[in-house]
Amino acid sequence: MPDTVYRLGETIISEEQIRERAAEIGRKISEDAAGEEILAVGILKGAVMWMCEVIKNISVPVKIDFMAVSSYGAATKSSGVVRIIKDLDTAIEGRHVIIVEDIVDSGITLSYLKESLSARKPKSLKICALLDKPARRRAEIEIDYAGFTVGDVFIVGYGLDVDQQFRNLPYITSVTAE
Ligand code: IMP
Ligand code: MG
Repeated sequence: MPDTVYRLGETIISEEQIRERAAEIGRKISEDAAGEEILAVGILKGAVMWMCEVIKNISVPVKIDFMAVSSYGAATKSSGVVRIIKDLDTAIEGRHVIIVEDIVDSGITLSYLKESLSARKPKSLKICALLDKPARRRAEIEIDYAGFTVGDVFIVGYGLDVDQQFRNLPYITSVTAE
């Protein structure tokens, strides 16, 4: 079967807009965590670019770790099933943890992660997401640090993919399959 051909839309959020927002959020995170150390937990792979951009702007001590979860496979619709593919390398008990995610869509991934990480007794547990897509929310979830709200379109770029493609785009755009 031939590969699906994807068509990219117009730029929705530019690299400059993302940089500016990351700087604001990084400053806010630093203010909120004044005098404390943070553990930023990036959710692989989509959050990688956003995580880099945000932590450059954090001025309190920050360590990083990563988790990989899967709820989608290669499709663009949530199965509602979340699986931990790679767990944290470090213990989080008593630490200030910020989960860094690319996009909150149904909210199922993050509500699962929040519940699962809360059980490990962090001192605090917050969420920082590049994008919020509220139109398709199925699980209620509070996003402490949200970059931008997007409409009900499938997004790629700045770490986000369709079928593992377009993560390298330095901006956010929509994509449709032909
Ligand atoms: P949720 O569990 O439905 O909130 O889905 C979160 C995950 O689905 C994100 O971490 C993304 O990997 C993926 N996802 C949801 N919407 C999009 C999108 O528009 N573009 C790319 N990935 C998406
Ligand atoms: Mg993801």
